[in-house]
Amino acid sequence: MIVLGIETSCDETAAAVVDGERRIRANIVLSQIDDHRPYGGVVPEIAARAHVEQIDGLIRQAMDAAKLEFTDLDGVAATAGPGLIGGVMVGLVTGKAIAAAISRPLLAINHLEGHALTARLTDNLAFPYLLLLVSGGHCQLVLIEGLGRYRRLGTTIDDAVGEAFDKAGKMLGLDYPGGPAIQKAAENGDGRLIKLPRPMLGREGCDFSFSGLKTAVRRLLDKQPELRAKDVAAGFQAAVGDVMVDRAGNAITMARAIYPDLDHLVIAGGVAANNHLRLRLDELCRERGLDLVAPPAHLCTDNGAMIAWAGVERLAAGLHDPLDAPARDRWPLDPDAKPMPFAGKKA
Ligand code: KG4
Ligand code: ZN
Repeated sequence: MIVLGIETSCDETAAAVVDGERRIRANIVLSQIDDHRPYGGVVPEIAARAHVEQIDGLIRQAMDAAKLEFTDLDGVAATAGPGLIGGVMVGLVTGKAIAAAISRPLLAINHLEGHALTARLTDNLAFPYLLLLVSGGHCQLVLIEGLGRYRRLGTTIDDAVGEAFDKAGKMLGLDYPGGPAIQKAAENGDGRLIKLPRPMLGREGCDFSFSGLKTAVRRLLDKQPELRAKDVAAGFQAAVGDVMVDRAGNAITMARAIYPDLDHLVIAGGVAANNHLRLRLDELCRERGLDLVAPPAHLCTDNGAMIAWAGVERLAAGLHDPLDAPARDRWPLDPDAKPMPFAGKKA
């Protein structure tokens, strides 16, 4: 089974080909970071236009790299949400056109499901497992019980963790995006003298909150402008690490109340590339008797392979979608989870 995957929900234009034997035949990602850098954040209109300009050539490149003709495909998977709606439409319409032209099934993929299932592509992981999804748009702890069976245990009540990294990076005058820049700056920094709050730490459940931490960084820099960016970066990372370990620890307890033998924690999303967080979560997993599964960084950030793989899984389960499948800006993984008014589509 061979599936083409298309991803255009944020600021990466991506196309990949993945097969049923978990082989990534091609995986091409074009980052738009340079287009958005002057604005210090993703500009939806610029993103959508860049996707339109790049997507056809990128798919051609992926098919060439995989040494395949379109008619070799068994299905076409495209992100149908959640994300920036203009971009989602570009990829989804392209996927529909290819599916219609070659008379193969369309798979309209939830971007979050792509992140959620990546560990099955990279590590052949069996259900159930606990997922910590940490990206620019999301911060959730989800119990992955089976294909299409996702139980949200906790989520952010305001900002996503990647958003907090990006905003803190901006305040510190670091390069865009802030996440990798903070990690790099923190390498030579000493966070021990940096006093920052640990929002939600010690609270029941496993929800997150990051808007207070962001404000605290602002206040700290106003009060002590002499602080070195690298020290604040290290202090910020330490604060996020403490919160993550506390929240994930509670989620493990909650998940094990349902599946006592649960033994894998998976991290996914762009922030999962962070070394410090990986170390802290690895310690937590060792203490609690779980294995931490961290897919390689290039499969943690947005990519087409995760979308193609979600397509492979859905196709293998006999699922596919009609050609009028809608593009959605909001599309929770767990439809039963309660909405978070201040987090909107991030929850
Ligand atoms: O999953 P992703 O590529 O896009 C979505 O948001 O869906 O995640 C991007 C986010 C950005 O906020 C970026 O700053 C963050 O992931 N990020 C990192 C690192 N690499 C990327 N955050 C912390 N440390 C990193 N090494
Ligand atoms: Zn993502």
